[in-house]
Amino acid sequence: MTVRGKLTIHTKARGAELGDLYGIFFEDLNHAADGGLYAELVQNRSFEFDPIDRADYHALTAWEKVERGDGIAELRIETAHPIHPRNEHYAGITIISEGAGVGIMNRGFNTGIPIKRGEKYVFSMYARRDASYDEPVLVAIESLDGTVQAQASIMVTSAEWSNYDAELTSDATDNSCRLVITTKGRGTLYLDMVSLFPVHTFCNRPNGLREDIALMIAELKPKFMRFPGGCLVHDGSLNPDDRDSMYRWKNTIGDLAQRPARRSNWGYNQTLGLGYLEYFQFCEDIGAKPIPVLPAGYDPHHKRIVPIEELQPWIDDALNLIEFANGDSTTPWGAIRSKLGHPEPFGMTYIGIGNEEVDEPFFERYTYFHRAIKEAYPDIKIINSSGPFAAGGEYDRGWKSARENRSDLVDEHYYMSPEWFLAHHRRYDSFSADDPKVFLGEYASCGNTYYNALAEAAYMTGLERNAHAVKLACYAPLLCNADYVNWKPDLIWFNNHAVYGTANYYVQKMFMNNQGDRLLQIEAEGFKQAELQPDTPITGGIAVGCDGCKITYSEIRLTNLASGEIRTLGDRIELSDSEVDRADGTSVRIAELGHTDWTHYSITMNAKKHSGSKGFIVYFGRKDDSNQLFWEAGGWQNQDSMIQSRINGRNSVLTQRLFEAEVGVEYELALEVEGRRIRVSINGEFVSETVDLLPVIEPLYFTSSIEEATGDVIVKAVNVQDTNVAAHIELTGTAKRQREVEVIEMSGYELHEENSFATPERILPRNKMMTAIDSEFDYDFPKHSITVLRIKSCESVQEGTESRQTLL
Ligand code: AHR
Repeated sequence: MTVRGKLTIHTKARGAELGDLYGIFFEDLNHAADGGLYAELVQNRSFEFDPIDRADYHALTAWEKVERGDGIAELRIETAHPIHPRNEHYAGITIISEGAGVGIMNRGFNTGIPIKRGEKYVFSMYARRDASYDEPVLVAIESLDGTVQAQASIMVTSAEWSNYDAELTSDATDNSCRLVITTKGRGTLYLDMVSLFPVHTFCNRPNGLREDIALMIAELKPKFMRFPGGCLVHDGSLNPDDRDSMYRWKNTIGDLAQRPARRSNWGYNQTLGLGYLEYFQFCEDIGAKPIPVLPAGYDPHHKRIVPIEELQPWIDDALNLIEFANGDSTTPWGAIRSKLGHPEPFGMTYIGIGNEEVDEPFFERYTYFHRAIKEAYPDIKIINSSGPFAAGGEYDRGWKSARENRSDLVDEHYYMSPEWFLAHHRRYDSFSADDPKVFLGEYASCGNTYYNALAEAAYMTGLERNAHAVKLACYAPLLCNADYVNWKPDLIWFNNHAVYGTANYYVQKMFMNNQGDRLLQIEAEGFKQAELQPDTPITGGIAVGCDGCKITYSEIRLTNLASGEIRTLGDRIELSDSEVDRADGTSVRIAELGHTDWTHYSITMNAKKHSGSKGFIVYFGRKDDSNQLFWEAGGWQNQDSMIQSRINGRNSVLTQRLFEAEVGVEYELALEVEGRRIRVSINGEFVSETVDLLPVIEPLYFTSSIEEATGDVIVKAVNVQDTNVAAHIELTGTAKRQREVEVIEMSGYELHEENSFATPERILPRNKMMTAIDSEFDYDFPKHSITVLRIKSCESVQEGTESRQTLL
């Protein structure tokens, strides 16, 4: 017999405001900007690519010399007479023999330059000529076989740099074109800033954004956009004029030809064509509040630190940015914004200082930023940082700093297995409304399957239910060009002509489009309780390993802490992992040591690193390579001690603390397991402790809110179970009458399914309408479903008492 539980929504009992809860995080990794959202079709338009960006880059990357017929040309990169010192390189083409035309050709991104029949493209370039050159320049978009699909002719008239442009209309649709620039005659032609944009960009803005990708983002209806990174913000040198400097926003505004090229830590070149003004404009266009993140003069990747006495310019960057965004045209930076074409302020209300920062130098510097910003702009909400992990030493340090400084929000980041998200659904239930608020600035369960989307949806009901503490949340990363992957999973995938949203994207869209303004009290009764997993202790295989190092482990002992029995697992084990091992795919060497069924035990050993960049690895609770726990002492950039779980190949960092494994030093490592509790120490000193929680599948994950403008009561429900959940849904505090109910639902998919370029809408929410009689109705939440119910126009909802939503 089906058990029908009941959900009662008290429309008069209002909870926390949902405010700006759901937004997006844009970072230019995976070629998200150049070769992605930024609609420029020419790769390396300013000839600034350089091995600093990527070892195989050079000034002519993506360019080729063209010599047609008997044509002979000399193609050089010159620097003697640039458009601007910040844009040093340009191409010089000397015609030796004109043949059927000589010049250069650009390959674009991915398979080439994509064009659509009937679409218009705007070509532009800076050019100058020498005295003997006076033939027209022929600009053509050609298919790979040389068919000309669009062309224009330009006369370069000056020996000084001038800007020339032309509009081209395409005769065909072809995703693999080349931009070919040829000329005849004699003499030398100089080119720079060679650009091709579709005329039709998002909101038809010049220097604009690719419409299909921008539309996918806009359709999310995000309340905010965090940008421009990510690690991209703080990974770099301290001098803003360095090619590999940290992300300094002042470099990204103004004349495109004067914006310096930048090395991104993601291993490519950033033109900065999508700069701060464009970011703010995009936020305005999609109705999202801008949340810029600024570096704080500390690079945790390379330990570059600005001395405190030299911090002022960095603080000024933050203050000037606020004025640039919000000041009127009488203020110096407001005037600059105005001159750049946007006289109205952007209304920025949040600023992030630092991205997932660790270590004292950041937190010491944060205080200076915080004080200066609050003094000048008391209403701006400042976001502090709590490192890259969900728990541990740096996480705690971030929260401590936030409490001491009275930061408005703390940025939390974590990328975990779906099981971790299910196990931690109640993470924020214990967070206090009196503390700084949570900005969950980066999160994702490792994958783009329907199962990942389901786990994230369930978790998001926990974020929403705790809106008293969680104020902002955004999935990460947002975008990925499928031919330039730095990071997986991602929310939206694209190539040079197609784009699709993942199952995770549609979850975000369902939650963002139906956020609501204020929580309503929702009560559940009568649901069948899902079976809890027995609280099994961590047992299984034990091993040691290394990752890019040479290590000796000795005196490895397993001790039963309940009985005192001691077993020797190994007296001396040498492990090394060389480049050769890596080449054949073996990047981590493992030595299996044994197995235990004990429930309270310790694993102890001495460990010494002889060479290599990382540290020690102790595996335990090991079923196989894809399912185990491990303690890495000297993980990531040999900066962390991390206890991690791996489920079906997906890692979750359960806790972290700073630790560096030094070469030649012998350490005593001790790991204790009691049930599911894990505690580690080094040289007799406690390092960290954590509990590896098992997922608990709730009978139903749900939340309810009201949308003020429409009076719609919104119920979000996620059924993670493999069986339907039947519910009777009833509203109190509103007239008992017939109401329309809009149902937006994802269901009916296998857990392993995902969208792809071939089947971009395999997984998609579907809409239907139903009717509630007397403001109540029955609904069967299908197995593995994500459902939004919009109960229309629920009038007579009045201010009631503040209340937190009750849980099942
Ligand atoms: O989202 C990808 C990266 O993950 C971000 O750049 C960084 O903040 C985090 O480590």
